[in-house]
Amino acid sequence: MTGQLRHMLRDDDVSHDEQLEILELGMRFRENRLFSRPFEGPQAVAVLFDKPSTRTRSSFSIGVAELGGYPLIIDKGGSQLGRGEPVADTARVLTRMTSAIVWRTFGQERVEEMARYATVPVVNALTDQFHPCQVLADFLTIAQHRGGVSELAGKTIAYLGDSANNMANSYLLAGATAGMHVRIAGPYGYLPDPAIVADAEAIAKSNGGSILVTTDAEEAVRSADCIFTDTWVSMGEESQYATRSKPFWKYQVNDHLMGLAAKDALFQHCLPAYRGKEVTSTVIDGPQSVVWDEAENRLHAQKALLTWLIAQQREDPSLLHA
Ligand code: CP
Ligand code: NVA
Repeated sequence: MTGQLRHMLRDDDVSHDEQLEILELGMRFRENRLFSRPFEGPQAVAVLFDKPSTRTRSSFSIGVAELGGYPLIIDKGGSQLGRGEPVADTARVLTRMTSAIVWRTFGQERVEEMARYATVPVVNALTDQFHPCQVLADFLTIAQHRGGVSELAGKTIAYLGDSANNMANSYLLAGATAGMHVRIAGPYGYLPDPAIVADAEAIAKSNGGSILVTTDAEEAVRSADCIFTDTWVSMGEESQYATRSKPFWKYQVNDHLMGLAAKDALFQHCLPAYRGKEVTSTVIDGPQSVVWDEAENRLHAQKALLTWLIAQQREDPSLLHA
């Protein structure tokens, strides 16, 4: 391959302009699901799961097939990775047979190691630290409802709840990349890693955005254009269920907090949602909620991302403008 091998391991692996290009492509896939077929051949994309999934599994399986490829879905229990085969050896094998590797796993260092040994693009399909595919879909959803991708820069987004989790980190980095004003609100003990906040601040500065991390939910949502939340108990944290519920009640997205946001503010949730916990049913099932568009946009955004990564590697811009 003469082109550039690129990966999507965390949201700031792409620049402002590259993120826009991927999202524009996502909009085109929304209009025409067979817009570009980079895997015609067909070629396989390995999609590995060390954690459960409904949306990521279905959107990557269907998306790869629609791109003309073959999705090879491998669950933890069905691979040697689950029995301790090194990540590097798995990368060396899969890279010989596939056009891309998509992986949902625990530590971020695992996808980084996969990328070190792979000679095909590696995509993070959620780690404990980041969920970049989800946030591409979330921004596509704002673009869908607010007049296109060019409207993203300058928007104010607010995320409430567990602010030390993968979604909070991804909103910080992806929002900063997009030139948004990103507000993150959660209780003490569940605020983002200062190193990630510092990265986000530096990126936001160069794109005209800003970062606010606060324990004040009302300050975060005031006049915001889009409100996000996520479960208070992420995958792998189930044993902490009792202790984790208590500190988050002030951050439940309810009618009062939605009322402080911009009048036409959107509500998004990556799902699965726990009604009565991080969000009330009046909000998630109400008129400002766009969560089903958001779930559908996983398909379009990830097809765009895979197509873009393949276009970089093949040095074939025609895949982006077919
Ligand atoms: N939002 C999301 O990633 O959903 P799944 O866990 O169902 O894939
Ligand atoms: N923070 C959640 C996101 C689920 C898509 C988790 O990691 O379980």
